[in-house]
Amino acid sequence: MSLPILQIVRRPGIIDLGWGHPDPELLPSVALKRATAQALDYFGAQALQYGFPAGPGPLIEWLTGRINEREGRATSSDEIMITAGNSFALDQVLTHCTLPGDTVLIASPTYHLAVRILQDHPVSLVPVPTDQGGLRIDVLGTILSNLRAKGHRAKVLYTIPTYDNPTGVCLEDERRRQLVQLATVEELLIIEDDVYRDLAYNGPAPPSLWSIAPPGVVARLGSFSKSLAPGLRLGWLTAGRSLVSKLAHSGLLDSGGGINHFTALVVTIVCQSGDYDAQIKHLCSAYRERRDSLLHALESHLPEGCSWKAPAGGFFVWLELPSKTNTAILRSYAESQGVGFMPGNIFHLDDRGKNCLRLAFTLYGPAELEEAARRLGMALRNFR
Ligand SMILES: Cc1ncc(COP(=O)(O)O)c(C=O)c1O
Repeated sequence: MSLPILQIVRRPGIIDLGWGHPDPELLPSVALKRATAQALDYFGAQALQYGFPAGPGPLIEWLTGRINEREGRATSSDEIMITAGNSFALDQVLTHCTLPGDTVLIASPTYHLAVRILQDHPVSLVPVPTDQGGLRIDVLGTILSNLRAKGHRAKVLYTIPTYDNPTGVCLEDERRRQLVQLATVEELLIIEDDVYRDLAYNGPAPPSLWSIAPPGVVARLGSFSKSLAPGLRLGWLTAGRSLVSKLAHSGLLDSGGGINHFTALVVTIVCQSGDYDAQIKHLCSAYRERRDSLLHALESHLPEGCSWKAPAGGFFVWLELPSKTNTAILRSYAESQGVGFMPGNIFHLDDRGKNCLRLAFTLYGPAELEEAARRLGMALRNFR
């Protein structure tokens, strides 16, 4: 028996909308093959050496230019660095910004595997509820005051304000301003997971918290996982100078000569050549069509009492089912009917979200999404 290569396990007969993975057909293998050869031609042996700890200059320069142009926030080269993607960056920020016993606030529901990363650290997690407008800033204010009354101070907040995983929601503009203001006053570091920013289907994404906050308040994590390919393990972060300096001068990056240096130079070529922007355009058009197919099919096939909000970007649709439905139990019945999803309880620290589920519309084409919605509708009607 050969050992596995991939995280995903495909089960014959099941259209599994539980996986938040891209369709292999949409991955830019031709552009990456070309860029790999060009990186070796252009950078020569420099591509194969230990790299600069903060990441190779040409990629930092390209990213800085793009952020300045798209987000209207002048970013200097000491406020940005290359990472191995958002999972790595989240782990590193927590390593360098928290101490054992610190309180970390997390939006709830939130990306379940970010919770796993947070739980690798000896911090205590406090959920902050969200609604259709994103994080509840009023409740966050109360939580912070209650903590203070008990002599505690929360150090960090982890949130996905743009095309959230799992809900697809964007934090409302007014709440973005309120959040940044509150964090500034409370000296709370916001970790803004911005992994879906480039996958915007209804016009430009809202401003990042990073772009509207005073320096040092937000560490924004960006990744090439969703826009190019997750197997690259490459991303970047923008944060205050002192945090970037702390991370870039860590033993990890000093010893390793940066992170994924060769990959970063290949991606530099993809970005400089225009292939990155072409890929984003291609993905947005494919994912927009898939999102619309799924939403249309849900309208046609789901029974009364189910609700959802159309996401303006990202990978996911979040469904709310009648309150008595337990999606953790529904899941195995639905799979026996040929459709998979992620049950809502997985994205919460407490027992909320039991009647919710997450569907990803990125792994399958429109016809399979339509069939998945039909099977889900049948499963919901027949489930006892
Ligand atoms: C919100 C969120 N953050 C981070 C990740 C993982 O990012 P990376 O591949 O850059 O580690 C994902 C992947 O699903 C995600 O949805």
